Amino acid sequence: MTNQPKEYGLETRAIHAGSRPDATTGARNTPIYQTTSYVFDDVDHAADLFNLQTFGFIYSRLTNPTVSALEERIANLEGGRAGVCCASGHSAQFLAFFSLLEPGDRFLASKNLYGGSMTQFGVSFKRLGWDVDFVDCTDLEAVKAAIKPEHKALFIEPLANPGGVILDTQALADLAHENQMVLIADNTMATPYLFRPFEHGADIITHSATKFLGGHGTSMGGAVIESGKFDWVKSGKYPALVEADPAYHGLSFIETFGDFGFSMKTRCVGLRDFGPAMSPTNAFNLLTGIETLHLRMERHVENARKVATFLAQHPAVSWVSYAGLADSPYHDLAQKYFPKGPGSVFTFGVKGGFEAGVKVVENVNLISHLANIGDTRSLIIHPASTTHRQLSEEQQIASGAGPDVLRLSIGLETADDIIRDLDEALSLT
Ligand SMILES: Cc1ncc(COP(=O)(O)O)c(C=O)c1O
Repeated sequence: MTNQPKEYGLETRAIHAGSRPDATTGARNTPIYQTTSYVFDDVDHAADLFNLQTFGFIYSRLTNPTVSALEERIANLEGGRAGVCCASGHSAQFLAFFSLLEPGDRFLASKNLYGGSMTQFGVSFKRLGWDVDFVDCTDLEAVKAAIKPEHKALFIEPLANPGGVILDTQALADLAHENQMVLIADNTMATPYLFRPFEHGADIITHSATKFLGGHGTSMGGAVIESGKFDWVKSGKYPALVEADPAYHGLSFIETFGDFGFSMKTRCVGLRDFGPAMSPTNAFNLLTGIETLHLRMERHVENARKVATFLAQHPAVSWVSYAGLADSPYHDLAQKYFPKGPGSVFTFGVKGGFEAGVKVVENVNLISHLANIGDTRSLIIHPASTTHRQLSEEQQIASGAGPDVLRLSIGLETADDIIRDLDEALSLT
């Protein structure tokens, strides 16, 4: 679709972007190029590929035609310049930071993040010499006060997992840019159908494609997309991107590739040297999933609204945190940033705390008790005993995952069936 006009709608691009009939066979759907490697035309062609003087395929740890189609599709839907797909959302986050940070560097991150990201940043990244400071990004004054000159990125989930918290992305982007650093937005929960962070100042987007992009709970995947608009040279904070890179015989990625230099470094150094490549079969499954993204997200949101409204008046429920409800503190930001609806993952509190939460997950039948979101099926989890168990109780509460909290990811079943299942489980608490 590269040569087609930009004004195609998002729905059209979800189906067509990045894919074209196979040049040899005419196959209309993007084939699964299940191959590790690619034959060179001759020695000069091989040399040009290795020197990054021509684009093409060498080895599937770096590039693969099925994965490339997916990269182009996600970058297109986000309105980005370029993207790199990889094995999972966590590897996308690792690769994004690897392209930005040196040992001894610091970055800022929102307190409202998926629990696994908090552990990745706060514990495992530390072992690489990358330090994080967590800050309450719902409070812009707190963010202003927390920013230090040495911070090299601000990482947020504009629509946060698990609490359905909505951040003022544009205001946070402005603060990041005033301090010459990039804003990285994890857009997993929203998908580009509901929210496009580049339109509100973000510079880099990460995705766990494992969730709503794929949408069927079949395939792991991640993506790192760049807007192409950040001025890496002017910022002065990213010598590893701007200066000669010893991992690529002295090449400067920004000087050589300009507005897609960050993606080239992410692929040619991060992906090459650490190796979290996406499998072609997963890329195929994710491409197929994205073709119905717009239809699925519409129904996810519609069902979530119905379930949240039901829970909000249930006697066994103490609160519901869904920005689609009129009394949510995030309702105004939802109107501004999420006119199509604030996703389908949200939390609610059960009267009776930890024990009642455990009872609900043990007594649902239709809804699956598991650690995922963004499936066609409705899913439930009790974060305090699962995804957020590595965190202290203080961190659990700060990230919206206290002992009474249950997280729902509302699927595409008949809304009344989801509601009846929850009603029956709640009646046993
Ligand atoms: C918002 C968010 N970001 C990132 C991740 C990590 O993605 P993955 O499980 O694909 O590594 C998750 C996983 O649940 C998530 O919910």
